[in-house]
Amino acid sequence: MHKTIKNITEMKGKEKITVLTGYDSTMVTLCEQVDVILVGDSAGMVMLGYEDTTLVTMDDMIRFTTATKNGRKNSLIVSDLPINSYQTKKDAVTNSLKLIQAGADAVKLEGGKEIARIIRAITESGIPVMGHLGLLPQTAEKYTVQGKTRENAIQLIEDAKIITESGVFSIVLEMVTSQVAKIITEKSSVPTIGIGSGKDCDGQVLVVHDMLGLFEKIKPKFAKRYLTLSEEIRNAVKSYVTEVKEEKFPSIENEFQMDDSEYSKLRKKIV
Ligand code: KIV
Repeated sequence: MHKTIKNITEMKGKEKITVLTGYDSTMVTLCEQVDVILVGDSAGMVMLGYEDTTLVTMDDMIRFTTATKNGRKNSLIVSDLPINSYQTKKDAVTNSLKLIQAGADAVKLEGGKEIARIIRAITESGIPVMGHLGLLPQTAEKYTVQGKTRENAIQLIEDAKIITESGVFSIVLEMVTSQVAKIITEKSSVPTIGIGSGKDCDGQVLVVHDMLGLFEKIKPKFAKRYLTLSEEIRNAVKSYVTEVKEEKFPSIENEFQMDDSEYSKLRKKIV
């Protein structure tokens, strides 16, 4: 049985919540120790090769959610509603339902006060929602740290309160100053999940390609690399190319053979 929303919310104040992004069944199978797999629209960059998340569609998110569900054993699955998929309450509920039908346990959407009524419509339809405050990649003109000024901090604290009242079960805080993330975490009744928001959040999320050192285009300061898989992959590909060119691969262990007697009969027949 996989983790439930209740399991995750009950971890607040007791145990840190671990979240990694996931987009395909092979990788998700390898990440089964984490509490939550987030099918993030960061798929736009790390899976589809776009510059940002703004070209990601519902069809993309449905496909990545299905693949994630096929690989998941233990983790809760939260899927991002992509840009332009939650502009009206009706669209938000219809599209959330599509992600749930594809295998998500909950959906995530970006924004504060301005989307409170949308969050409420989704939660009232029975679908759990994760909020996302701080840097909002779907609409941000520049990726800058949030919560640096008193006014901006007050706005974030207020947004966290409003979306919690609208029913979110958890809130991602992206690139929020550690002090403000700590205040929101202390004041909030639901768990906060930080990315670039310091250690005091109730949990942490990283893009799996960043933490494995697979994605080389950008390296955000907060994205600790636990491996440098890109180098290992390049070295493996180099060895493969060399071995094929030099006829070292495939070797006898990688081949299938016919019986000698059958082979000699064949040779006689085809001369
Ligand atoms: O799309 C994503 O991967 C995200 C995380 C960075 C929180 O929203």
